Amino acid sequence: MMNTLKASGVGASINRVEGRLKVRGMAKYATEFPVENKAFAQGINSTIAKGEIIAIDSSEAEGLDGVLAVITYKNAEKLNHLEEEMPLLATTTIAPVLQSAKVNYYGEYVGVVVAETFEQAQYAARLVKFEYKEDPDPTIRFDESKSKAYKPKGNSDYLRGDMEAGLAEADETLDATYITPIEHHHPMELHAIIASWENGKVTAYSSQQMVNESTIAIADTFQIPKKDVRVITPFVGGGFGSKLNTERHVILAIMASKLLGRPVQMTVTRQQMFTNTGMRQQNEQRMQLGAKMDGSLTALSHDTLSHTSTYQEYQEPCGMISKMLYQVPNNQITYRLIPMNFQTPFAMRAPGEATGSFALESAMDEMAWKLKMDPVDFRIKNDTQIDLGADKPFSSRLLIECLRIGADKFGWENRSMQPRSKQEGNWLIGYGVSAASRNSPYQESSSKVILELENEKVYATVQMDATDIGTGSYTIIAQTASEYLGVPVAQVTVELGDSRFPITPGSGGSWGAASYCNGARAACQNAIDTLKQNKNIGKDQDIPVAELLKQNKLKKYEAEGSAAPSEAFKKHSVFSFGANFSEVWVDKHTGMYRIKRMVNVASAGNILNPKTAYGQIIGGLTMGVGMVLSEQTRVEPNFGNFITRSLADYHVPVNLDMANIEVIFLPEEDKIANEMGVKGIGELGITSVAASVANAIFNATGKRMRHLPITPEKLI
Ligand code: MOS
Repeated sequence: MMNTLKASGVGASINRVEGRLKVRGMAKYATEFPVENKAFAQGINSTIAKGEIIAIDSSEAEGLDGVLAVITYKNAEKLNHLEEEMPLLATTTIAPVLQSAKVNYYGEYVGVVVAETFEQAQYAARLVKFEYKEDPDPTIRFDESKSKAYKPKGNSDYLRGDMEAGLAEADETLDATYITPIEHHHPMELHAIIASWENGKVTAYSSQQMVNESTIAIADTFQIPKKDVRVITPFVGGGFGSKLNTERHVILAIMASKLLGRPVQMTVTRQQMFTNTGMRQQNEQRMQLGAKMDGSLTALSHDTLSHTSTYQEYQEPCGMISKMLYQVPNNQITYRLIPMNFQTPFAMRAPGEATGSFALESAMDEMAWKLKMDPVDFRIKNDTQIDLGADKPFSSRLLIECLRIGADKFGWENRSMQPRSKQEGNWLIGYGVSAASRNSPYQESSSKVILELENEKVYATVQMDATDIGTGSYTIIAQTASEYLGVPVAQVTVELGDSRFPITPGSGGSWGAASYCNGARAACQNAIDTLKQNKNIGKDQDIPVAELLKQNKLKKYEAEGSAAPSEAFKKHSVFSFGANFSEVWVDKHTGMYRIKRMVNVASAGNILNPKTAYGQIIGGLTMGVGMVLSEQTRVEPNFGNFITRSLADYHVPVNLDMANIEVIFLPEEDKIANEMGVKGIGELGITSVAASVANAIFNATGKRMRHLPITPEKLI
């Protein structure tokens, strides 16, 4: 119905509309807002894993020039908190902090110093002395604490069919356990806030992924009306899940501002990013598979053992993928959690699928090898168009096509099934494959569009509380408005990240683009439809929006709109799918390896902007390479502190670690997913890399790597 502006509408490969702001340093991140008279807060971390504070001496810190306050549990405001034991961690969870003498983990905030300058606060924080009564037996060693595991209330176990019978009828069985370590998010922008408490109202320039949820958490924590909380976060320098929550520094900064009657800035240091924002916990995933010689799966179980904190529950849904990815009649998923003296883990980079697919897709490769079957054929053999775990059809699923097209582009036919059969000098060369899948949630999303007529041109402003965490939200929302209003993208302004704007679910869980672009679409369509209605113009008549405003004798017009999942959506399982093929070269003497190239195929519905979508997949693949190659946080086994303390020892991949990457998006139309046919791609990329590389390493060396990261010493 609308003019499709191929130059700038949906599907155009345009540059980021906010790119120039960013490269000129003019995109404002949380602590870059010019707030006058601000003080600086520095958190203090506990130095025991479990116990209680028995004495605090803050006299030296308080005597320093510039120090305004030292806040500990002794003088902190009493906050509202959930009385329930072990509340489930959610994005709106209240965050009590400095509420008691109890210490739950090494690195927990035990105090905060507020001073005139950042340097004074940092220095003074080191001078506050804490005396502890240490509990001699903290739970800090995963392997020795398994007997404490319990069944979490947040995730139910699942069973279909009969596992034992399924294994009994199999020709081949596999029982293998895969281990993934503690990992940390580490976005480039640290968690940071400037908080102002004024007359019972809060303004928070806070780096967050979900604006509305954050206002709820703040309002509940301080027991003030939600309308009195304003969260502003127009630019976010990465989140990876760690900024879904309103973390405790947000509460500390607001508390300090309330106490001092002036704005307070607080930044979580890179070291504190290990202990005071979320993390991915260690997982031990036991996979049992049974299959017939013809390749059909008869049984699949996925039992995950993880840890949570001693005060709150979070369970990464690792087994989710094993419920839905393949046609298997007998299927069991279980979860157990060990309460440990670490912070509560939380969603990180495709929670569930990133780690779950390492286990499932490695196990699939192991089974294919046992059956002497090509791993691509084995997956195709077990494809299903029904999500058996949810008992619903998939809205669209092109997994077979992803595998076939990927195999073709990659040159899979040149792979020999036998390990160590391709060599060049000292290098052993292997090919690996993994399927990719990621849930594509879609949530209600609202937006407002403001149209202004100036010199015959219509300028549009779209407002919503969505966030751009570096993913391209501004750009795809501008393209959506361009498409549905029929104006060039250069005449569209997008304003995001402010709780005064209409509510969206923000950015996370790969739901952002589908949700908020449909919200923007709805507002634009409402604007056009109402302008037409006013003049008795039929909906299908194609009239430029400038003309519509003129006929309505309007210079300015505003409309709101919202979009929500349809009944059809609810009756289907909506997932994005993909396949990853990788070629890995392993040095047979040193175990050093290079990921030479990857072909990644994705089917994710309508691609709003191939350029930003490509960036999303590349980002996901890079995180996947981090998982398989180097990322891990180590625990000191006696004291329970993380000895991985900075980006110098928490290794993320650099350019040289990355392969030559080809990304292919399959054309896919899915109107069940949502009106625009958009499915998530933010996390799809990471979900296949670890298994693909581990499987390539097996093909190269004959060694099965079941413990991430795969560091060179494991290969010699
Ligand atoms: Mo994501 S780990 O839901 O930001």
